[in-house]
Order: sequence, then structure tokens, then C-alpha cells
Amino acid sequence: MKLWGGRFSSPEHELMEQFNTSLPVDKRLIEQDIAGSLAHVAMLVHCDLLTPDEGELLTDGLEAIRADIASGALQVEGEYEDVHSFVEMQLTGRIGETGKKLHTARSRNDQVAVDMRLYAKQIAHNTTELLQHLIDTLTEKGEAHDVIMPGYTHLQRAQVVTFSHHLGAYVQMFKRDKRRIGNAAELLDENPLGCGALAGTTHEIDRTVTTELLRFAKPVDNYMDGVSDRDYLLELMSDFSIIMMHMSRLSEELILWSSQEFRFVTMADAFSTGSSIMPQKKNPDAAELIRGKTGRVYGSLFALLTTLKGLPLAYNKDMQEDKEQFFDAADTVTDCLRIMAGMISTMQVNEENMRAAVKAGFLNATEVADYLVSKGVPFRDAHSIVGRLILHCEQANKSIEELTIAELKQFSGSIEEDLYAYIDYDEILKKGTKQAMKVNQ
Ligand code: ARG
Repeated sequence: MKLWGGRFSSPEHELMEQFNTSLPVDKRLIEQDIAGSLAHVAMLVHCDLLTPDEGELLTDGLEAIRADIASGALQVEGEYEDVHSFVEMQLTGRIGETGKKLHTARSRNDQVAVDMRLYAKQIAHNTTELLQHLIDTLTEKGEAHDVIMPGYTHLQRAQVVTFSHHLGAYVQMFKRDKRRIGNAAELLDENPLGCGALAGTTHEIDRTVTTELLRFAKPVDNYMDGVSDRDYLLELMSDFSIIMMHMSRLSEELILWSSQEFRFVTMADAFSTGSSIMPQKKNPDAAELIRGKTGRVYGSLFALLTTLKGLPLAYNKDMQEDKEQFFDAADTVTDCLRIMAGMISTMQVNEENMRAAVKAGFLNATEVADYLVSKGVPFRDAHSIVGRLILHCEQANKSIEELTIAELKQFSGSIEEDLYAYIDYDEILKKGTKQAMKVNQ
């Protein structure tokens, strides 16, 4: 069952039909397709291209289809070329000849363009909400555990930070991601309906009617661009890729932290899995899957970038490939954002293990150098003095604060009793810029 065929003298090959059909994928656009058609009908009536009676018949028919799909009475399936053919043929089947007027002054090229933009707007909105939920979850977890922990560079213990500051770094990343999605949503907010196949239509249509009904900010400026533009999908998929990259980094840390070597966090059973052979295992699979699925989202972005490169204007069937990539990327990022929030909110934070790791790592070495600087020693000399001090501590198996004042003075005469207070970990955190180590919303 097709919307075309008049100029064909032999039927489509079965293989070609299967190859060409997009219904199993684009059936997901059914709501947007019906919404677009309803707005199009209202515009046709407004412009006297349909009578009010015809408009009513078409509108009622489309709404009935929508209701039947919502109730489950109608399934979006069958031998249709795509979701657009499905709706139009359902409509004509139900209301008769008037159904055939639906496609007046419209092409599937502007139809699919408007469906995808409406869908992309919805996805952008949902992603923003999920990001905000993750931001809130990380913030709450950090506030509940505003505790000292080692901060790392090169995965080597470096300086003390707080757990809330560490999680706060991710809060900043996800806040930027949210703004990025907002920017993309703003840029894509243009109505392509009315572009026709590529050159508009000779009918006197009014694109402002569908623009308002479908709540777009404005109609697109150029018809050929309107039906050819898939930048907004690429942009959202780039944003999804960055979100996944951020979640992958966080996942990597969660995996490390939940290892026996760190034991900084314990994953809830609800977000862990076991081993079929090793009874003792409890694996952080949720975090590993997020890390793994990051590659999949990058792959979707690259697949669509590659599909689009080299396409001449305007519409080409290659563009049908945009849907599988975009839907998969959107589904993956949606699932991962939910799982990440669940994992974070339910994990146990082992504060004592974090504190113990701080004690063992000479994380106050930089502050000893700062202390010497405060006593007038040039920083480069202070750095070298503390280097020798650390070597001594390692050989003696002692932390800096465990050395006596006499031992300390062998490295620099500038060291006095007040050093101990200066390099106390809790004092370090209280000082200066460390005050900023709160999760700032
Ligand atoms: N299924 C098509 C797509 O997703 C819809 C547009 C078809 N247009 C056409 N001229 N065949 O791109």
C-alpha cells in the first residue's frame, strides 16, 4: 500500500520494498506525525484550501486515529512504506475520499522534517529534566558526605579535597551539558512545514498558522534548507556524546572506588550484579555498561555525520538513516542518565576509608612547602626541601606529621611548632580557597 504508483508500470520488488520501508523505525513519530497533520489541516482551512466541513472530517479522523493508538486498539504496523503513509491511509480508510485531501500543499519531505523537529524538541526537554535530576542527586550525595578524601592527578594521591567537591566537579559538567542541550533546542526551534518537497508550493498557504499551532518560534527561512537540515540532530547527538563522556568518567571513578583497592564506596545490590562462577563477586556492571555504551553514542554521531557528508541539496533518501541513529543515541543517553542517578543515590560512601587514604598519601606535602614560603623560603627551594623530607618519611615509614620537631628542623631551620597545625588535613580544608569546596548549585 503506497501513496504513489501512477507513473509506475510494474510493481516494486519484494526485496526493494523491505529495504525501503521505514515504518518499524519511524512508527515512533506517530504522535508528531498526527500533530503535524492536525496543524496542517487547520492551516488549509484557514487559507480556504479546504472547506470547514472537510477540515472537521479530517480533524476528527486524525483524532480518532490518535485515540485508537493511545488505547491500544490500533497498532502502528503493516505493509506501509512509512509512518506518513500509515496515517494517511488509515485516515482515508476511515473517512473516505476527503482523506485524500490531507496531503494538499505538503510533501513527505517537509512532513518528516517537522516530525523530527518536534520529536527532537521533546527529547531535548526530557534530557534536560534527567540532567537536572542527576545534578540534584550528585549535590545531595555530596552534601550528605562533605568529608575529606584524597584528590588525584595521574591517579596518584595529590592533595586533599572533599567528596562533595569531587562530586561537585561532575555537577558543573552536567550543568554545562544542560545548557548545551538548551542551546541546541533553541536553535532547532523553527518550523519546516510548508517547505514542500524543496521549493514550497504554488498554493497560498500561511506558515505562521502551523508555526503557532505547533509552538515553533518561527518558520524556517529557506525552503531547501528546511527539508535538508539535520544539523539539529547532529548537535543534540554531539551533546549526548559529551554527556556520555562525562558519565563514562564518573563511571570509571565509581568502578575504581568500589574496588577492594579503594573501598571508597559500596554499590547498592540493586545496581550491581554477581558472577556465575565466583560466589564472592559483586560487580559494578551499571557503571561499566554506561562506560561501554558511550562508544555506541559516539558511533551514532559519526554514522550520521558520515551519512550527511556529500549529500547534494535538497532531500535524499539517505536522510532516512537519521532516525535509527538518533533514536538509539537518545534512548541510550536516557537510560544511562536514569541508571547513573539511581546508582549515585543508593551507593554507600565509606567515609573512614577515604580519611585513611588521606593519611597514607603525603597529601599535605604541598602545604609544607606553602608553610616554608610563608616563612620567607623561595618556593623552588621549599619544593626541594619537602622532596627530601618525603624521601626520609618513606624510608622511615612515617607521615610528615609523625616526625618530631627536631627531625623536621634537620630539613629546614625555618620549621617551627606551628607547622603541625598548618599541615593538619582538616585545617588545610578550612583554609583559603578551600572554602570554595562546597557544591555550588
Ligand atoms: N521515510 C522518509 C524519511 O525518513 C520520509 C520522507 C520520504 N520522502 C520521499 N521523498 N521519499 O526520510
